[in-house]
Amino acid sequence: MKVLVVKNQKDADRQGVKIFRQAYKHGARTFGLATGGTPEGLYRELCQSDLDFRDCIAINLDEYVGLDGNHPQSYRYYMQSNLFNQKPFAETYLPDGMAPSAKVECTHYNWIIATNPIDLQILGIGQNGHIGFNEPGTPFTSTTHVVNLTSSTIKANSRYFKDESQVPTQALTQGIGNILQAKQILLMAFGPEKAQAVKEALTGKVTEDLPASVLQKHPHVTVLLDEAAAALLPSEWVAEHVQHIY
Ligand code: PGA
Repeated sequence: MKVLVVKNQKDADRQGVKIFRQAYKHGARTFGLATGGTPEGLYRELCQSDLDFRDCIAINLDEYVGLDGNHPQSYRYYMQSNLFNQKPFAETYLPDGMAPSAKVECTHYNWIIATNPIDLQILGIGQNGHIGFNEPGTPFTSTTHVVNLTSSTIKANSRYFKDESQVPTQALTQGIGNILQAKQILLMAFGPEKAQAVKEALTGKVTEDLPASVLQKHPHVTVLLDEAAAALLPSEWVAEHVQHIY
């Protein structure tokens, strides 16, 4: 695991573009993408870059159940407005939150991932250590499934809705087993509210109680942090594992 700490989120976004560029140069054409506040700046930088994704495939992690792609809080809408409209991809996939059968949609989504192996997966991390919508306790072998969102996730995501009661209570998400299949993973985390989860994920026990801790087992992970998110990492650990980029 490579851990890079930069001064602030802006620097991290630029660093993220470098990682994208490097991966593309080495043949990556299938990108696993995430939504939320964390990758917004990265997508802004990608939109302004000269990178061309017209021969690429994008496969997202998750989508709310019950929101269609025209709903401004759906992840399809987010991806269109933050990236795809400006930087078209050959194909883009998100789970269908309106699918009549969630079970069929999960099988279909697993098939999409299996037939388009992800070269570079972008991840954020929840304050409880979740990745995608895989909440604490999710088996590391899980594949795409329906989740009941925890109250902490609903609360965190309510900032995008009128109020907490508007936040969907379920989502479709790639499982941890799917995420681990990606050839390379870039986990990004910014701000003091992520510091505890980052510390536990990187330096703690690998446990299903903290989903992101599984990344310690993946052979090709880069973690990109700003100073605030890295603040609780023990100094001996930092000395041994962290590269500061200023
Ligand atoms: P955020 O969410 O990027 O909006 O902080 C990350 C996550 O919950 O996975």
